[in-house]
Amino acid sequence: MTITGMFDLSGKTALVTGSSRGIGKSIAMAFGRAGAKVVFHGSKPSEKLDAAVEEAKKEGIVCEKAICDLSDEAATKAFAAKMDVPDILVLNASMQTYMGFEDFTTEEYEKEYSANVKANFILLQRALTVMKERNFGRIIGISSVNHYRPGLNLAIYASTKSSLMNMMINIARSYGRFGITANTISPGIIATDRNAKVLSDPKMVENFINWVPTHRIGAADDIAGSALLLAAPCGSYITGIDIPVTGGLHL
Ligand SMILES: NC(=O)c1ccc[n+]([C@@H]2O[C@H](COP(=O)([O-])OP(=O)(O)OC[C@H]3O[C@@H](n4cnc5c(N)ncnc54)[C@H](OP(=O)(O)O)[C@@H]3O)[C@@H](O)[C@H]2O)c1
Repeated sequence: MTITGMFDLSGKTALVTGSSRGIGKSIAMAFGRAGAKVVFHGSKPSEKLDAAVEEAKKEGIVCEKAICDLSDEAATKAFAAKMDVPDILVLNASMQTYMGFEDFTTEEYEKEYSANVKANFILLQRALTVMKERNFGRIIGISSVNHYRPGLNLAIYASTKSSLMNMMINIARSYGRFGITANTISPGIIATDRNAKVLSDPKMVENFINWVPTHRIGAADDIAGSALLLAAPCGSYITGIDIPVTGGLHL
């Protein structure tokens, strides 16, 4: 197989949840550049979602947009029921709030578990039935360095990320015989909107840089390469693993 062929996604379809911006957008763009037809997704109509779709179309990527608030169970079930099940499903969207353990409310807990775990479970149940019939599927969960080193004020978020990882291992074992692989990627500190406030403080940036073994903050595009590997022909024998893309922060 040629190097180009190893990473070719021509003829494949991909849905990347939470791809209006940030890591999800980088992954969706990479898949589109590799030849896949891509669905960009956001929680709501937004300029960023429209801009992502426009940017992709300008590059000649065949794409469309989808909207669903994944913290809303009824909306997620309706979305899952009518979605064209993609060949490649990236479970990237998530919600997080910084709070001390004793300060978390059950409402916040429900919200994070709904968006970060339950919604993925609902999408997976629908996707797996179709992928099984096709005898092909690539599932990539976006976990977090918080699985390895739970942030002191991110206890609930961190536990949702471990849950996602565990679910992927189970799917890898159960569905491998149907041509389906399931893996996770655990990003470290990546400069996206979610970290914009904290990364606007030079002191915090300096602290982070000193903390990360490779001595830099990651970019969204740093995650796209490993996602492409897991989705592409050259990754077809990889299943049930996590790839920490953390600059060494998970160590
Ligand atoms: N950035 C990091 O340092 C870092 C580190 C470790 C792990 N991660 C993980 O990487 C993934 C992407 O992170 P990011 O930093 O790129 O995020 P981001 O910039 O905050 O973007 C979040 C994306 O998720 C969507 N989203 C948020 N809540 C949603 C909901 N309730 N329903 C549907 N979509 C929702 C957003 O859609 P809208 O635009 O409509 O809001 C947006 O597309 C997440 O799973 C995150 O946990 C990130």
